[in-house]
Amino acid sequence: MKAIVYKQYGPPDVLAMREVETPVPGENQLLIRVRAASVNRSDWETLIGKPAFVRLSGAGVFKPKKPILGSDVAGTVEAAGPDVSGFSPGDEVFGDVIWHGASAFAEYVCVSETAPLVTKPASVSFEEAAALPQAGVLALQGLRRVRETRAGDRVLIVGAGGGGGSFAIQLAKLAGAHVTGVDNTGKLDYMTSLGADQVIDYTRETVSGARYDRIIDFAGRRSIFGHRSVLADSGVYSMVGGTVPRLLQAATVGWVLSKLGPVDMRVLLVQPNREDLSALAGMVEAGTLVPAIERTYDLAEAPLALARLGANEAQGKLIIRI
Ligand SMILES: NC(=O)c1ccc[n+]([C@@H]2O[C@H](COP(=O)([O-])OP(=O)(O)OC[C@H]3O[C@@H](n4cnc5c(N)ncnc54)[C@H](OP(=O)(O)O)[C@@H]3O)[C@@H](O)[C@H]2O)c1
Repeated sequence: MKAIVYKQYGPPDVLAMREVETPVPGENQLLIRVRAASVNRSDWETLIGKPAFVRLSGAGVFKPKKPILGSDVAGTVEAAGPDVSGFSPGDEVFGDVIWHGASAFAEYVCVSETAPLVTKPASVSFEEAAALPQAGVLALQGLRRVRETRAGDRVLIVGAGGGGGSFAIQLAKLAGAHVTGVDNTGKLDYMTSLGADQVIDYTRETVSGARYDRIIDFAGRRSIFGHRSVLADSGVYSMVGGTVPRLLQAATVGWVLSKLGPVDMRVLLVQPNREDLSALAGMVEAGTLVPAIERTYDLAEAPLALARLGANEAQGKLIIRI
């Protein structure tokens, strides 16, 4: 099969399309013919091997352990091992295989049937389905940590023009919240087009003055004290991504600030699961959620997609069609 492979951490030119062995499903595994995969910031981080926690959390300290990237997948079950009971060849599925091999930038991927995979609704395209898993579930879980987002809540989404943010804006609006999106100058109109009531350009302005019931932070650049200063009483701050020092600060100082109350400030660790994937797909099927796909690339162009993400030029989701 064809796959985009790499042997060392580095920029997108360490990636190359190669002919590799097609994986053979084990007893409880599915072989999926990949039809679409999406590119996440986590793929970029695993490509370049930064921040350091990527290497320390299993990707490989000196060089990548796995030669193929890609954790969001949509495709057709090609074959199933003898112990698989929930899926059959021909089923159209999608899901998040980040903890199950994460090698979706290829024609085929082998995944345990226990992975967060669900049936793709027929009216949802493979590209739309591939856009959902990581970014959509992060947004969904960010909006309901501690409590569900309610109508009238003031929600601040930091990094709202990126992959997760594009879902968070739409989901917060669906909940009836007032949404403020923060991102760079080039993404202001884009955030408004997704439904943001108010937008802030982080390159020109620091968020101040207002108080927010919920902050979802996909960027993780600002000090936790800065976020605390704009969090309402009983407000919830969830740090989704960011620099290592900021993540450590959120995990430690955030814990202390939460103990002091009346706020809750934590790092959100995504829990990929089938219920959330099905809920997102159902919303796409119903037309209430639209995956914000900026561009679609062929498999051979995967390095270009990663380069666009790495250069911080992408708005919403980039898809690789296979
Ligand atoms: N917590 C978890 O369990 C978990 C799981 C998976 C992934 N993640 C992490 O989640 C993070 C975000 O994911 P994503 O896919 O949404 O990333 P993304 O597509 O890269 O979006 C991040 C956005 O934040 C913007 N940004 C950068 N600095 C900013 C600032 N100071 N203020 C406001 N916005 C700023 C970026 O714009 P620019 O173009 O200007 O940089 C970009 O639009 C990644 O770091 C990823 O590793 C977390």
